[in-house]
Amino acid sequence: MDQGPMENAFAAAATLARGDLVGLPTETVYGLGADATDAEAVAKIFAAKGRPHFNPLISHVVSLEAAEALGVFSPLARKLAEAFWPGPLSLVVPRQPDCAVCDLACAGLDTIALRVPSHPLMQQVLRAFGKPVAAPSANVSGRPSPTTADHVLAEFGDKLTLVVDGGPCAVGLESAVVAVIGDQATLLRLGGLSRAELEAVAGPLLAPDASSKAAPASPGMVLRHYAPSAPVRLNGTSAGSGEVMIGFGPGFDGAEFNLSAAGDVVEAAAHLFSMLRAADALNPSAIVIATIPETGLGEAIADRLRRAAER
Ligand code: TXA
Ligand code: MG
Repeated sequence: MDQGPMENAFAAAATLARGDLVGLPTETVYGLGADATDAEAVAKIFAAKGRPHFNPLISHVVSLEAAEALGVFSPLARKLAEAFWPGPLSLVVPRQPDCAVCDLACAGLDTIALRVPSHPLMQQVLRAFGKPVAAPSANVSGRPSPTTADHVLAEFGDKLTLVVDGGPCAVGLESAVVAVIGDQATLLRLGGLSRAELEAVAGPLLAPDASSKAAPASPGMVLRHYAPSAPVRLNGTSAGSGEVMIGFGPGFDGAEFNLSAAGDVVEAAAHLFSMLRAADALNPSAIVIATIPETGLGEAIADRLRRAAER
């Protein structure tokens, strides 16, 4: 895979067109991509991930215009898209009646999750392919999301014919997922944008409510998720024998890992999954993680860590 970036983008588009899976870089995490209009190709994603079929996927497109061919954008949805696209926001909106994305990718729902990623290589792939790309994070279900091309190879290895190497992901957390039905915006998943950033544009966000159509609960919000194999102990200050410490901020000089020695939650988000993965690779009796302040992206990190600690 020692081709130039453009050749890789065209190779990825050709692989997608054949109905095969491709590992793709985005600014959030690496995706396991398939032609979103081809249910057989999308089925390969679920098979490779071992993911429950009822969990719908995000369709990635090159522009808001392309997104509007697939989903119905209310003025509020358009406002959020214009503020944050391209970038780490996925919008769940009603499907257009003639939506080209297959039902399997939407898990049979009458809504669709759409995102315009900002990574330049991913944009080239989308432009070369000319169709929406369904892509969940490129990890086996329940494992930490990959933030480098090597992580993707470690997850799927020979099951993938191509992984486009776009370097380490700048954001390091999955996109924030917001459902917008009319003038109601519901925060379904915390992620690469903070609640404050989203609310500055959308106003107060609703919390998911399974009994409400305007505020659907995200099927992806299962409790145990993003989990390494080793048990995870939260809010620790030091590692016992056989354990490995992931610190945060100054004062963790002896720790094997530090999410951010400077105590910066954005830097911590970028390191989170790769450090969980690296810590797990040491086969510790437990991974001990320091307290992360729940400000800005810290809220999303804490959410991920609570899931990782769930047994
Ligand atoms: O940053 C990201 O979002 C990455 C990169 C590759 O783009 N993708 C990603 O996809 O994290 P995935 O499949 O791991 O997460 C998609 C999330 C899930 O929580 C899923 O339940 C939710 O979006 N979702 C998708 N479609 C939905 C829908 N129609 N209604 C409610 N939730 C939906
Ligand atoms: Mg995922």
